[in-house]
Amino acid sequence: MEKVLQPFFTIFDENRNAFTRYSSYEERKLSDMKGYFANEARRQQMEEQGNPIVYRVYKQDVPLKEGELLHCITMIEPGHVDGEFFMTKGHYHLNEDCAEIYYGQKGKGLLLMQKGDRTETIEMNPGTVAYIPAGWGHRTVNVSQHEPFVFFSVWPAQSGYNYQRALDEPFQKKAVVDGDSYKLV
Ligand code: F6R
Ligand code: MN
Repeated sequence: MEKVLQPFFTIFDENRNAFTRYSSYEERKLSDMKGYFANEARRQQMEEQGNPIVYRVYKQDVPLKEGELLHCITMIEPGHVDGEFFMTKGHYHLNEDCAEIYYGQKGKGLLLMQKGDRTETIEMNPGTVAYIPAGWGHRTVNVSQHEPFVFFSVWPAQSGYNYQRALDEPFQKKAVVDGDSYKLV
């Protein structure tokens, strides 16, 4: 008999910027992000001088089959590499029919999206609900130098990840420090 998935819930822990319970945790340090920042020499130097965590992902695992939904919380630390703000690697979904929703919880971020030569940017504040249509590559950036950027994501369990494509077709826009704010270059 097919195993029945039990209903479940978790609570967003405001102090830890994480779910109270989660089934998987991943962190990405600067050492995991070779080649992602424009100034690779500076990234390497920062790796050697402490290798800070860039972002953390707290995920709920469900069967990876059509009909189920994955969800997670991402927390991007404040910081930058030679002026380029800390960000996620970014990816396309392997299954290009799969969309995604991001919900801003804390801090200030940008959602960078692209499809072919088209780019779109949505500023993410607490309460922003952003829709990433199927087929668009997506990356998030923390544009605060002082506080973490935290957001919730939900997406179809059969989406898969294509990180290589985001390297082959790099995100065209970069968010860089501009005084106490940011600008896109
Ligand atoms: C899932 C999704 C997010 C990201 C997360 C980390 O489809 O888009 O949950 O996986 O924000 O970013 P990446 O996966 O680009 O390292
Ligand atoms: Mn995604």
